[in-house]
Amino acid sequence: MNKKLKLRVRNSGLLDLKFFKDLPDGNLFIAEARQHVPFDIKRVYFINTLANPKAVRGKHAHRQLQQGIFCINGSFTLHLDDGRAKQRVLLNDPSCGVLLGPMLWHTMSSFSYDCVILVLASAGFDEADYIRDYDEFRTLTRGSRSNDKRKR
Ligand code: TYD
Repeated sequence: MNKKLKLRVRNSGLLDLKFFKDLPDGNLFIAEARQHVPFDIKRVYFINTLANPKAVRGKHAHRQLQQGIFCINGSFTLHLDDGRAKQRVLLNDPSCGVLLGPMLWHTMSSFSYDCVILVLASAGFDEADYIRDYDEFRTLTRGSRSNDKRKR
């Protein structure tokens, strides 16, 4: 992933972890709340065994939740859609993740056989915070687009 990449979609951004290259004794990566991710971390989850080349994950947005998503082994493609702009990002560097803020439709695909995804989240699991229907997401973001226009 290019660390100079500009994320054009709203409610997103690059996250840079601190790391120490301790080779040949390994690398150490550190994510501290409010320092390397802009929220207090309330939940951590990870996804592995993504060897199926047709696997697709995500396909939802969150109403409030903020998350930092990292590829800590291998690579995958993250598709972002804020209802207005879309952007595709290749994640292949454990030290460089993406902030998934609220109202950002995200899909993950094209996983390498050895891919491991790590997610840091700002709140506990709450199914009511999910928007899993793309039409509903479009309707909700269309509302905020017309608000944006009124503010101009
Ligand atoms: P989901 O968030 O849809 O996974 P992904 O975005 O990676 O495709 O979650 C898949 C299932 O796991 C869904 O039934 C909800 C459940 N789940 C929890 O119970 N707790 C959690 O913290 C997460 C992330 C998911």
